[in-house]
Amino acid sequence: MHDLATTAMHQSHCDVRARVVTAKTLILGQTLTFADDPFKVPVAEAAIHEPRGGVLIEDGLIAAVGPADDLQHAHPDAIVTDMGSRLLTAGFVDSHAHYPQTAIIASWGKRLVDWLNTYTFPEEARFSDADYARETAERYLDLTLMNGTTTVCSFCTIHPESVEAFFVEARKRGLRAMAGKTCMDQNAPEDLRDTVQSSHDDSKRLLERWHGVDRLGYAITPRFSPTSTPEQLEALGALWAEHPECVMQTHLSEQTDEVEWALSLHPEARDYLETYEMHGLVGEGALFGHAIHLTERERARIAETGASVVHCPTSNTFIGSGLFDLTGLAACGMRIALATDTGGGSSFSMLRTMAAAYEIAQLRGAALHPAQLYWLATAGSARAMRLDGKIGTLAPGLEADLIALDLASTAAIAQRASRAEDFWETLFPTIMMGDDRAVAQVWVAGRTTR
Ligand code: GUN
Ligand code: ZN
Repeated sequence: MHDLATTAMHQSHCDVRARVVTAKTLILGQTLTFADDPFKVPVAEAAIHEPRGGVLIEDGLIAAVGPADDLQHAHPDAIVTDMGSRLLTAGFVDSHAHYPQTAIIASWGKRLVDWLNTYTFPEEARFSDADYARETAERYLDLTLMNGTTTVCSFCTIHPESVEAFFVEARKRGLRAMAGKTCMDQNAPEDLRDTVQSSHDDSKRLLERWHGVDRLGYAITPRFSPTSTPEQLEALGALWAEHPECVMQTHLSEQTDEVEWALSLHPEARDYLETYEMHGLVGEGALFGHAIHLTERERARIAETGASVVHCPTSNTFIGSGLFDLTGLAACGMRIALATDTGGGSSFSMLRTMAAAYEIAQLRGAALHPAQLYWLATAGSARAMRLDGKIGTLAPGLEADLIALDLASTAAIAQRASRAEDFWETLFPTIMMGDDRAVAQVWVAGRTTR
């Protein structure tokens, strides 16, 4: 352990040196930034579009954002990258994903529990092999970056090797990222079960080794109440109390039969949320994936504790889970994030994920504004992960994770965008029909990735 920790520290210094970019870089294009939450204030106050703007980057951080002419005038020494009419925004933040499910994305015909048993668990069992974990982490992070996602919060598997692989690969790419060992001590195949003691000790060791190394953060990760005994939830709650600087991620109320199952296994709880709450697993920094079938008490408790719910729209339709009540939950004042839920979700793209969120809201009678969708995929997810102040929009002092979007990346999108009468109408076809082809460039901590 000592050697590994020393190596991690040594690499940390090297990587920081390597990342220092001494020259100032000025990237020009259209810019979209957020000053506030468009679910709380009018879009015109929350979102700022600059038709000819710029982002000044220095030492991996954003030094200034504003009209292109002003920035060029104030910083004549900056090296200019002109992205033309492309749209510069913060990189996407995917706040709930399972990188080990990369190879089983789009697996046919099952609902949640069957899908876990048929596809997910056999695949996750392969992650005891460190080489397989590394190859998958590489592929997953390459795919997410290609799609403009610069931060993810990922579940790993029960194997510490899977966590090592993820953090090593995220770090190589200079990413801000979070992940954690998925803990399960019941209702999983034997080779995917840990124990109360081993789940606590492995999580603690990985947390101490990785949390705060470069841009990485640890997420304490009980998979969900059906696969954890009360004793395991208690041990992980105690670990979170010792390390409140970490986030805690899990699943909540995804399918109705899963809710019944969770309650039958934890009869002491009044509702699904309470299976976590009884063990200290609800509070600020808790990320509850799905949260579709919530009771009134659960809604109120999530809102008042400052916990977050993570909307996973492509997963919720793909696995047949239900229609998330986005506008209802936002009206309760709840913190809401957006995520792919790869590979229960059917896409690596946060554009496709925004489109699915729009469609689900339509089925519930609400039309989400493109600014609200974009905010969820960037600043909203960053806030849920307690990373606002570091990433999530373009503003001085934030880390320079950004993307340039081509708003006419396919013939179908281009012909619709050409009819647009304002900026939002130009952006919306890319939200609804765009994919990795729309992502023209990605910067991680101020450095291009391609
Ligand atoms: N609930 C428990 N585990 C999982 C998972 O891996 N994916 C989804 N979508 N739901 C879950
Ligand atoms: Zn999930």
